[in-house]
Amino acid sequence: RIIEWLVPDNMHHQWLLLAACFWVIFMFMVASKFITLTFKDLDGYSTKQEFLFLTTMPEAGKMPEEKLPEDVKPTENVLPKNQLDQPLMYLERLELIRNVCRDEALRNLSHTTVSKFVLDRIFVCDKHKILFCQTPKVGNTQWKKVLIVLNGAFPSIEEIPESVVHDHEKNGLPRLSSFSRAGVQKRLKTYFKFFIVRDPFERLISAFKDKFVHNPRFEPWYRHEIAPGIIRKYRRNRTETRGIQFEDFVRYLGDPNHRWLDLQFGDHIIHWVTYVELCAPCEIKYSVIGHHETLEEDAPYILREAGIDHLVSYPTIPPGITVYNRTKVEHYFLGISKRDIRRLYARFEGDFKLFGYQKPDFLLN
Ligand SMILES: *[C@@H]1O[C@H](CO)[C@@H](O)[C@H](O)[C@H]1NC(C)=O
Ligand SMILES: *[C@@H]1O[C@H](CO)[C@@H](O)[C@H](O)[C@H]1NC(C)=O
Ligand SMILES: *[C@@H]1O[C@H](CO)[C@@H](O)[C@H](O)[C@H]1NC(C)=O
Repeated sequence: RIIEWLVPDNMHHQWLLLAACFWVIFMFMVASKFITLTFKDLDGYSTKQEFLFLTTMPEAGKMPEEKLPEDVKPTENVLPKNQLDQPLMYLERLELIRNVCRDEALRNLSHTTVSKFVLDRIFVCDKHKILFCQTPKVGNTQWKKVLIVLNGAFPSIEEIPESVVHDHEKNGLPRLSSFSRAGVQKRLKTYFKFFIVRDPFERLISAFKDKFVHNPRFEPWYRHEIAPGIIRKYRRNRTETRGIQFEDFVRYLGDPNHRWLDLQFGDHIIHWVTYVELCAPCEIKYSVIGHHETLEEDAPYILREAGIDHLVSYPTIPPGITVYNRTKVEHYFLGISKRDIRRLYARFEGDFKLFGYQKPDFLLN
C-alpha cells in the first residue's frame, strides 16, 4: 500500500522537476529579450525606468555556461579594453575629495557627523561585502534592486515588486543603521563602499520635477504638505497663487535657516539635502564615487571593483542620456534673483568642490 502511494508521487516529482527546468530556461530567454530601454523622462528616473537593467544569474552554477544566451553572459567582452587600464579617473576623484576635505574654509560644507541619518542612507549587502549610499535621482532604484537580488531575497530583478524595492522590512536589504555599533564599524572599515553623484543644481531640478511637478509615484505629501509649507515661508509674491515654483524651492534651500523646515519634512529631505549630509564623504572613506554623467563607464567599473560583475550584467546606457544640460539649468533658473542663486550655491558649494563639478558662473554673475 505504501508503494502504491509512493509511485505516483515519484512521477509527480519528476514532472515538477521537468517543469522547473523549462521554467528556468524560459526565464533566461525572457531576460535576454528584455534588454530594451525605455525612457519616459530624460531627467528623472522614475521607478519604471530600467536604464540600468541588470540581469542576475543565480542559476548560473546549475547550468552549463555555454547554454546562456549571449545577452546575459558576464560582460567583460562588452567593456572597451582601455577602461580596464584606466582607473586613474576614479583615483583622481578620491584624491580630490581628500584634498577638499582638508580645506578648512570649506569645513562646514564638506563635513558632517556620521549620524543615524547617514547610516540610514547606506544599504548593506553582507554576502558580497558592499555598502551603497543612496543618493536619489541618479538611478538608485536600479542599484538597490541589484543588491536586493545579491542578498538573495528575490531570485531576479524582474521579480522584485515595485512596492517592495523601498520597503526595507520586506526587501532583505538592511540599512547600516540596523547593526550594532561594532557591526557598523566593521562594515565601514572592510566593505566596498560607493555612491553616485551628479551636477548638484541639475540634481535639484530633477528632484523638483520628480517630487513637485510630475510625482510619478503616488506621494501626495510632496504637493499637499511640503509644497504649501515652502510656499508659506518663501514665496516672494504674496498675490501669486500658483503651486510651488522652482524659485520658492531655491529660496528654501538657500536659506541658512532651512533646518527649521527640514525638521518638519522628515526623511523626505533626502531628495534635496547635500551629498555631504547624505553620505558623509569626508568621514567615510568610499571606494568609488560614480558620476551620473559618466555612468556608462562608471556602472561597469563599480560592478567590477565590487567583484560582482560576473553575477550581474547591465545594458549600454544610450549616449547623451545622462549628459549635463546647461540649457535646461539656465531655463530653470531664469528669473530667479542672483542673490537667491548665490545663497543656493553657498549651501551646495561643498558638493560642487568635492565631486569636481564646475561652479555655475553663468548663473551667479
Ligand atoms: C562653521 O560653523 C561654525 C558653527 O556653526 C561657525 O562658528 C563657523 O564660523 C563656521 N565656519 C565657517 C568657515 O563658515
Ligand atoms: C505677483 O503675482 C501676480 C499673480 O500671478 C502677478 O499678476 C503680479 O504681476 C506679480 N507681481 C510681481 C511683482 O511679480
Ligand atoms: C536640454 O534641455 C532642454 C530644455 O529642457 C531641451 O529642450 C533639450 O532637448 C535638452 N538637450 C539635450 C541635449 O538633452
